[in-house]
Amino acid sequence: MRAITLRAPSTIANLGPGFDIFSLALKHPYVELHMQLNDTKRISIKTDGCREEMPEDPNENCAGLAIIELLKKIDTSIGVTIEPRKTISVGAGLGSSGACASASVYGLNRLLGLDLNANQMIEIARHGEIASGSVAHADNVAGAMLGGFVIVKNYKPIDVLKIEVPEIPIVVGIIRKTQRTTRSLIPDTMRLDMVKEQLALCAGVVHAIMSRDIEAFGRAINKDLISEPVRSRSIPGYNSIKQKLLDGGAYGCNVSGGGLSIFAVCDKSRTHDIAEVMQSALAHESIKNEIIITQASNEGIREVAID
Ligand code: HSE
Repeated sequence: MRAITLRAPSTIANLGPGFDIFSLALKHPYVELHMQLNDTKRISIKTDGCREEMPEDPNENCAGLAIIELLKKIDTSIGVTIEPRKTISVGAGLGSSGACASASVYGLNRLLGLDLNANQMIEIARHGEIASGSVAHADNVAGAMLGGFVIVKNYKPIDVLKIEVPEIPIVVGIIRKTQRTTRSLIPDTMRLDMVKEQLALCAGVVHAIMSRDIEAFGRAINKDLISEPVRSRSIPGYNSIKQKLLDGGAYGCNVSGGGLSIFAVCDKSRTHDIAEVMQSALAHESIKNEIIITQASNEGIREVAID
């Protein structure tokens, strides 16, 4: 086996209060990634098939960094060409870097027959995130790898739990960041009363997923004390947009991952209405966006072709 083509889903990380520990895979958009072994002993990244410009230097590219990390662990030098064909907007908080990093580690694991398990692949793939946000968080890569709702139960060592999800309707207003990352704006410390509230909010998300209750899930993702207050400051009129979505019938909404996209959870019968509310609320603030209607997905990385 010399080549493989894979598909990895976009993900909503944090899902409201689960900073760096929760994520949810989406049915679309997704990344398709082709990998081919060769004899050059070099990692080459070709980004012609991507929607937006991406670095081709492996040291600055999420797939490249993940593969460099993998090769350190197995102490082998190989040649590989990686061609991501992205349909996920870059820099919008929908896990495009995590999807590429996960798919490249999964692909090389298959091509070289390394037999790494999911936790080992996630541990390696998370280093790809350094290319986009300078921090090796594992939530997006875990969601892309496994699909469904994932909880990073432990960071040292990585231990991830996947919970199957029902068909949760999600409307996303895709908004790209103008800055490379908003991560550094998040404070390092948090007051104990806020920690207590955040833990309670996280428990609410897990309980809603376990109960397969979409309304409760929407209400549970609606509040966060860590990322939302900081990331939402970069979205003009965020509080008013949020209020319009809730008044329009969304169960809840929040900032997706590192932002600046906004996602809303609603009943299946209301997705087009909520998409219209999102569209007009963002237009009212003159925010450039693209609206998509999608849903949660239990599918992680899928093998599309093997040669
Ligand atoms: N948990 C990460 C963060 C997700 O909030 O920075 C980035 O997509």
